[in-house]
Amino acid sequence: MKNRPIGIFDSGLGGLTAVKELLNILPNENIIYFGDTGRVPYGSKSRDTILKYAIQDIEFLKSMNVKMIIAACGTVSSIIGGSNVNIDIPFTGVVEPTAMAASASTKNGKIGIIGTTATIKSGAYKHALKKINSSFNVFEQDCPMFVPLVENGFIKDNDKAALIIAEKYLYSLREKGIDTLILGCTHYPIIKKLISKVMGPTVKLIDSGSETALFAANLLYSLDYISTRNTKGVCSFFVSDTVEGFSKTASLFLGRNINQDVKIVDIDSYTI
Ligand code: DGL
Repeated sequence: MKNRPIGIFDSGLGGLTAVKELLNILPNENIIYFGDTGRVPYGSKSRDTILKYAIQDIEFLKSMNVKMIIAACGTVSSIIGGSNVNIDIPFTGVVEPTAMAASASTKNGKIGIIGTTATIKSGAYKHALKKINSSFNVFEQDCPMFVPLVENGFIKDNDKAALIIAEKYLYSLREKGIDTLILGCTHYPIIKKLISKVMGPTVKLIDSGSETALFAANLLYSLDYISTRNTKGVCSFFVSDTVEGFSKTASLFLGRNINQDVKIVDIDSYTI
């Protein structure tokens, strides 16, 4: 069990924010990553469609014999929490770990949340924050253009188009005087520098990908599931559409060439 891979999935590149942190903190683990690039974005889809996709993604990872599954996707995590999907191996989404980190970070109790439309509509992050402390002032904003920007490689912090869009989405949150902003979609930490430029230096950004990786590592320790391997683990990537776009931006973000490690999978053939 201990030396089985960790399974991570997202609609596309976003879950790599969790992978990057896991590579840092648990370098000897094998990782299987699935990015549903053929069906991204999830955040503009209905609850039923998101659940159907999530179930297929989970079934694919289970077929790879993983010891744990991380839904490194704010949208899936927000929807799956309130569903009756039964995952019979250790599992975490991003909502609770990220809400805990935000509540530990805020000094003035004013917390902003940005995410996909489906995530914001679900109210999952707000609910998780209020459960921790009902007196938090929570402000939400969906940013539907951020995922396509990232998927198309507009990730530089001086990208003019991305800056104009970010300013439009984030202006009202900045005016609210928040001191902490949850990047509730795992794609957003990829443009963290750009978001920080718009929000200013006094707002602490909470990275849903890396917070979830830390949470997952603690879960593995508590279960005694940490790998006993004493050599570097292997990372394999799977996508549901062409590998080129994913490989290019993923290599840029991870700081290593992963072109040889990406394969295509027919995700529609996985179901319960
Ligand atoms: N990374 C996903 C999330 O965290 C992106 C969702 C999408 O595909 O719209 O929500």
